[in-house]
Amino acid sequence: MSDPRPIGVFDSGVGGLTVVRAIMDQLPHEPILYVGDTARFPYGPKPVDEIRRYALEIADFLVHRDVKCLVVACNSIEVSAIDHITGRAGIPVVGVIDPGVRAAVHVTRNGRIGLIGTEATVSSGAYDRAVAATGAPVMIRSQACPVFVEHVERGDTTSDELRGAARRYLSPLMAEGIDTLIMGCTHYPLLSGLLQLELGPDVGLVSSADETAKDVYATLVAGGLLRAGDERAEHEFLSTGDPATFERVAGVFLGPELTEVGAARAEPVGGGAWS
Ligand code: DGL
Repeated sequence: MSDPRPIGVFDSGVGGLTVVRAIMDQLPHEPILYVGDTARFPYGPKPVDEIRRYALEIADFLVHRDVKCLVVACNSIEVSAIDHITGRAGIPVVGVIDPGVRAAVHVTRNGRIGLIGTEATVSSGAYDRAVAATGAPVMIRSQACPVFVEHVERGDTTSDELRGAARRYLSPLMAEGIDTLIMGCTHYPLLSGLLQLELGPDVGLVSSADETAKDVYATLVAGGLLRAGDERAEHEFLSTGDPATFERVAGVFLGPELTEVGAARAEPVGGGAWS
């Protein structure tokens, strides 16, 4: 049995490529169809119902393109729409929040976990609920970091302005004595070097990307959805904004696996699916 259909992965921009990277490492023979909604980026400051509308359009498009499972590689989408996406996709849907929380709860030594994310993610309280659901004796403190994603989307991981923002965002969490920080936005693993430098060596950084890829692996195994054989996988990358801009930034982060970037229209057509 072999299922050659691609895995559908989506985000508001290049952040979801951190999850793509981990999936490629763990499942090198699986083709991936990626959509970055750069025309409507950023999602983080937008109202929940607007994020949900965009997310459902992309999910419909990917289902229409016959992906075998959906990976919601964006925390802001997950907090706004995961139940709606799961309710109508008709295929397995994997998110990033539970995997990140699972890792953080294992890693913390003092039970004090910090979370950084977009305004949408932090104000949703989804991480507080996910941590509480584990039953682990830990506390979580959250901080929204609005400017981070825009720097990442520009390809900036080192500017003084960005470092200043990181210092401001992280100091209240450091004052709480956290020993573990969840990067609760898929753009943030691209800032790991900067964040670790500002946090110092005693705070463990948790990226949900590797853990999410493990869930994708388990989902494909459980559903009999693995692609058999050892042929090289062909991937497809689509951007709703300027493909050339997406390709430039995404290529820096993803490397040679980033093949040519195509354009997707950021409006629903024909029964909710995109062209
Ligand atoms: N990468 C997205 C996330 O994980 C957010 C980026 C945005 O604000 O659009 O939340």
